[in-house]
Parts: sequence; C-alpha cells; structure tokens
Amino acid sequence: MKEINPEQQSKQTLEAWQTSARYWDKYRALIAQMFAPLTSGLIREAGIGIGQKVLDIGGGSGEPSLTIAGIVGPTGSVMYTDPVAGMVESAQSEAGRRGLTNIHFQQCSADDLPFANSSFDVAVSRLSAMFFGDPIVALREMLRVICDDGYVSLAVWGPEERNPFFTSINDAVDRFVESPEQDPDAPDAFRFAVPGKLARILKNAGAESVAERQLNFQIEVKISPEQFWQLRTEMSESLRGKIARLAPDQLPIVKQAAIDAAQKYFVNGKMSFPAESLIVTGRKSAKK
Ligand SMILES: C[S@@+](CC[C@H](N)C(=O)[O-])C[C@H]1O[C@@H](n2cnc3c(N)ncnc32)[C@H](O)[C@@H]1O
Repeated sequence: MKEINPEQQSKQTLEAWQTSARYWDKYRALIAQMFAPLTSGLIREAGIGIGQKVLDIGGGSGEPSLTIAGIVGPTGSVMYTDPVAGMVESAQSEAGRRGLTNIHFQQCSADDLPFANSSFDVAVSRLSAMFFGDPIVALREMLRVICDDGYVSLAVWGPEERNPFFTSINDAVDRFVESPEQDPDAPDAFRFAVPGKLARILKNAGAESVAERQLNFQIEVKISPEQFWQLRTEMSESLRGKIARLAPDQLPIVKQAAIDAAQKYFVNGKMSFPAESLIVTGRKSAKK
C-alpha cells in the first residue's frame, strides 16, 4: 500500500477538487436532480424548516445549500462552505443568478471552521464527509458551531457494489488500468460505506442520539448512456486519471464495455440507477 502523509493527502484531495470544479459547474443541473433525494433526506433528518440558520459543509457547486435557502426562507439563512475556490465561485454565481439573498459563502475546510461557537441551528454535509482530512476534528468543529440540541447530519455513499452508478464504469476501466490497493481510511467516495463507521466517529466527536439511516433511491435524469459516460468520466478525478493512462486503442473498448454494463439502467431515454446511501445524524447535547 502506498504511504502518504495526511498533509500531502489533504493537499492532493483539494487540488483534485479544484480541477473537478469546472465539471461540477457544467453538470450542476443534472447533479441537483440526480442527488435530490439525499438533500430531502438531510432536510428530514436534521429537521430543517422555516427561519433556521443552516451550515452546509463541502457544498460543491451549490447543493444542498441552494435548495435549503428556499426551505428556510427569508427569515432563515444558509452558510455555504467549501475549501475549494472553484467550487465557491460556482455556487456563488448560481446563487446570484437565482437572486438568493439569504445565502452566504465562506471558503474553508471542515476541520477549521471560522465561526463562533453556537452560530447555527443545524449543520449538514452532502457527499463531502468522505473527503475530510481529519473526520473527527471536522465533526467536533461542526458540533462546536451549532446550538445546543441542534443536529449534524451527513449523507455518504453506501457500499460501492450497491451503487452501479459508479461500478458500471469503474469496473470496465479497472480491467485495463491497474489500481493500487487503497487505505480504507483515505479520502474516497466509499470511505464511510461500512455501516456504523461514520456513526462511531460522530459519537466519538461528542454527538448524542446518533442514528444511521440507510437511504435507497434512484439516480434519475433524462440522459443517454453516451452522456452518462461523459458525465462520469469528467466529474470523477480518479476516472479522469485512469482514462489518461489508457492506450488510444483501449479507450473505445473500455467505453463500449462500460456503456454495455450500464445499458440496462436506461429505458425510454431516461437513466435510472438504484443507489444506496447512509444518512448519519447526531444531536449536540446541551452539556457539551
Ligand atoms: C462529492 S462533492 C459534494 C459536493 C456537494 N455537497 C454535492 O453534494 O453536490 C465533495 C465536496 O467536498 C469538498 N471537500 C473536500 N475536502 C473537504 C474538506 N476538508 N472540508 C470540507 N469540504 C471538503 C470538495 O471540495 C467538494 O466540493
């Protein structure tokens, strides 16, 4: 297994997301649609409603912040955060286009939040906890900046094999490009796929009443298999890297194998992948 120090790892993770930002911006409408059930799950689990002050960690091209800004309304507010400048610019531009005035932006990492204690009612994170440099430090920070009895709620992917949105392409590519064995605790989309893993860290960070819910949903949008291939191979840093290592004559073979594997999830011009995620939620105790 390749050894890499945590600081170097964090730097690499952020550089990868900076390169990804333009693709997350390009596909923002599809991303919002594809992962909308996760946003609804977070809103439900964290008990988000009108008038609340919500903190979003690792907001990427703007979700769930943009949706939550509509839920909390003019008497509430959302603080969008992300450590990557390109992501913040993308989300901020979209909020401007929509004329949203109850959303604020801060470029920062989850493990060092520039907010006073008890500044927010709840904190959420959609598909970003897996990339935190030091998850326990980040979760302590999220608990620190929310009010007593407020909730921290995090959405992460379930096991890779239950998520063909990923495996249909990854498996085809991995048959041609060797992947080094990965440290299961290194930043990766499936770092918290094992049930109980993130819940344990949230409990150790000091949260009470920690609950983990499995959320199964369909990743659904109107695109073709060809557009799916393009979306995935642009949005994913690891796929971009692996595809760059393919020989020119291998690329069409891999692409066809991936499209063949994904074909059964496309019916009548619509893509519909079954997906499995976990939503982990904990409460800040009044004592902490
Ligand atoms: C998969 S994207 C999710 C973006 C968005 N929340 C969504 O669901 O569409 C992961 C995000 O986590 C961010 N991220 C990476 N490291 C982070 C860290 N240490 N703290 C907070 N966010 C981080 C990335 O910049 C990226 O925007």
